[in-house]
Amino acid sequence: MTQKIRIGLVGAGWMGKAHASALANAQLLFGPEYGVAEFAIVADANEASAKNAMEKIGFERMSTDFMDVINADDVDLVDIATPNSFHYTVAKAALEAGKNVYCEKPLSISAEESKELAELAAKKGVINYVGYNNTMNPANAYVRELVQSGALGRIVRFQGTYDQDQLLDESLPITWRHINKLAGSGALGDLGAHLLSISQFIMGDITRVNAMTETVFPKRPKSAGSDELVDVENEDIVTFMCKYANGAIGTIAADRVATGRKNYLMYEIQGTKGSVRYDLERMGEVQVYFHDDDVRDRGFRTVLLNPEHKGYSAFQPAGGISIAYNDMKILEVHELFAALTHNEPYACNFEFGYKIDRTIAAVLESAKNEAWVDVQ
Ligand SMILES: NC(=O)c1ccc[n+]([C@@H]2O[C@H](COP(=O)([O-])OP(=O)(O)OC[C@H]3O[C@@H](n4cnc5c(N)ncnc54)[C@H](O)[C@@H]3O)[C@@H](O)[C@H]2O)c1
Repeated sequence: MTQKIRIGLVGAGWMGKAHASALANAQLLFGPEYGVAEFAIVADANEASAKNAMEKIGFERMSTDFMDVINADDVDLVDIATPNSFHYTVAKAALEAGKNVYCEKPLSISAEESKELAELAAKKGVINYVGYNNTMNPANAYVRELVQSGALGRIVRFQGTYDQDQLLDESLPITWRHINKLAGSGALGDLGAHLLSISQFIMGDITRVNAMTETVFPKRPKSAGSDELVDVENEDIVTFMCKYANGAIGTIAADRVATGRKNYLMYEIQGTKGSVRYDLERMGEVQVYFHDDDVRDRGFRTVLLNPEHKGYSAFQPAGGISIAYNDMKILEVHELFAALTHNEPYACNFEFGYKIDRTIAAVLESAKNEAWVDVQ
């Protein structure tokens, strides 16, 4: 039976578009019984962006005030894709109005705000989903199975980095991503949060951190082409050591000015019986090593994603055929729809988002005080 899910989107930029595409495509791949998105209303503070989204995506109406989405009787799901700082305000209003919420990552700009949202969501009993789409990547689901099944033995080490060079050009102007009251943090919340979500998903809780940050370009033009320079308020690079509740130790980094790196989300997990290595720039390949192999055969080998890996078969019937970023978002929307229409469980709820934000808070405090900090 077809179930309509009426969408109210807040924020029609890069992620607003990615969400709309995934919301429209989920039913084509998984069937209308899991939910069919109906695009009711889009709100964006920028009127031209709202109008563009209404016309291109097919929303029935638009607004420049997000409260029009919250107050709409014909909205089942409030979808938040604004800059980080507005997540709290919009999500809180949506939860108070009893709406289901789908919020981009990070859940908010502080552990305190995220705690409040997680508690409110639990109290209201509505769907509260955070868009940590990398947890939906079939490769990460596969690695999680390897870790949790014991196939790699006792896990002793996680090392990972998420590097891009999108902001390497010093002449690029200030955006919301550089301003703390809008973003909360720099490379850490923007890129590092994704790696933290994978680390949380596969390894479990981080208990302690010791961090350093660096702002490589401390000033940027106020607007494109302007000679007036303004302060960049947050880190271009973060790197930290950490300790996991499972006993493993780790090193994690994120870098938004990493020359040559485009979407280099890379991690390696080492266990006493085997290791895995993964790099999102080569999304379909997981490197695995098993120490029990005959000594002559030992070595890392490449496993190409295939229909035996969770989620992959929704897209392709045979192994080694490319899947891509937007497919993670479709898997994410499917999980969200399955929760809405079939009461199925999901991992990336606001409590999960709060855990990531607690870790982010500890990393920022550690960098500021140059000391080990416990994750609260
Ligand atoms: N999951 C991912 O892979 C991923 C990737 C990129 C961004 N993100 C997250 O998505 C969110 C949005 O990032 P983006 O890159 O799409 O940003 P963006 O700048 O492209 O788009 C943000 C949009 O929100 C609008 N906006 C700003 N304030 C608003 C308000 N108060 N009410 C309504 N609209 C408002 C802006 O006009 C803009 O159109 C961020 O939280 C970011 O961390 C996630």
